[in-house]
Amino acid sequence: MSRAKKVVLAYSGGVDTSVCIPYLKQEWGVEEVITLAADLGQGDELEPIRKKALASGASVSLVVDGRKEFVRDYAFPALMANALYENRYPLSTSLARPLIAKMLVEAAAEYGADAVAHGCTGKGNDQVRFDVSIAALNPQLKVLAPAREWGMSREETIAYGEKVGIPSPVKKSSPYSVDLNLLGRSVEAGNLEDPWHEPLEEVYALTAAIENTPDTPEYIEIEFAKGIPVAINNVQLSPVDLIVQLNQTVGRHGIGRIDMVENRLVGIKSREIYEVPALSVLIQAHRDLESLTLTGDVSQYKRNIEETYSKIVYNGLWYSPLKAALDAFVLQTQERVSGTVRIKLFKGNAIMVGRKSPYSLYSMDLATYGAEDQFDHRAAEGFIYVWGLPTRVWSSSVRG
Ligand code: ARG
Repeated sequence: MSRAKKVVLAYSGGVDTSVCIPYLKQEWGVEEVITLAADLGQGDELEPIRKKALASGASVSLVVDGRKEFVRDYAFPALMANALYENRYPLSTSLARPLIAKMLVEAAAEYGADAVAHGCTGKGNDQVRFDVSIAALNPQLKVLAPAREWGMSREETIAYGEKVGIPSPVKKSSPYSVDLNLLGRSVEAGNLEDPWHEPLEEVYALTAAIENTPDTPEYIEIEFAKGIPVAINNVQLSPVDLIVQLNQTVGRHGIGRIDMVENRLVGIKSREIYEVPALSVLIQAHRDLESLTLTGDVSQYKRNIEETYSKIVYNGLWYSPLKAALDAFVLQTQERVSGTVRIKLFKGNAIMVGRKSPYSLYSMDLATYGAEDQFDHRAAEGFIYVWGLPTRVWSSSVRG
């Protein structure tokens, strides 16, 4: 009853994915398990994770550095789309899944595997993102999800691991379920399952409590080129360095905490805490620069695109034709989104206080209320006559 011969398993070093290794072999008759740990800037020590996979029964243990690709090809396109799921969550976890799926598919081709596997349960969004992304990239490849079927509680999973000799956890166990990468942290479970319960300070790791933030504001300037952030305070930075540095700078001011109840694709509401310092400030700044450089109609039309974009990325459709079409639209709009935004960081707030661009559409001559005013005020009268005509006709016809 072997479900597959050779499997590439997405591996984190945690209990669940570690137990997947012996489980796939002993319960599902898989002959060989190759693990793949993706480095997306979660800051884990990767060598112990690599060794743990081998100690748990993997034949090959891969560690792949995906940081650059993650920021350049996943985070920045989402930033250009100002992607916020349900108007709040900048998709820090969601964006990682299609990249990990791509790594799995590539490793499967390289090692001649007939299946890939992940440790997601049947209740979350991540299983959808993995399964759909893998199917999009290689429809022939089987996807195994042991944790969706094994029906073990957390305690039973740990006990199973102990029985088959899985070494004790690399990370110390916590009541929370945490997902971490360069873009941020997602935290759920434990006492957060009660939406009325205020998160304890121990939940946070990337952002300071307001009580502990500096008492004087800090100003920073972020420069964008065609919608992509390229420099902070006039220092050009690589995509990864820019995110790392910005996380630290704004995290110190307690910026980027989100506490929300969100709607999962599978219909469950879940309470999640996010820490997304860099990404949340970048989206605000990018939006601000767009307000200066996009025409009103493009800007307003783009808001609808952004909402659809966020929803389909959240719902696992990164590699879908609709997403590709929306990307093309968004990219086209970014042609002149170049310039600098000045931001004041203070007590949990990132306040946009200035913006400039060589492509600015803002005209002082038109906007000013001073003597330099170039706007033809008399032209407004005729414009309003035509603009209001249908309304006037409609109102007159009721009376007449
Ligand atoms: N709710 C978020 C999403 O679907 C994060 C999921 C992972 N969260 C976690 N705490 N492990 O993208």
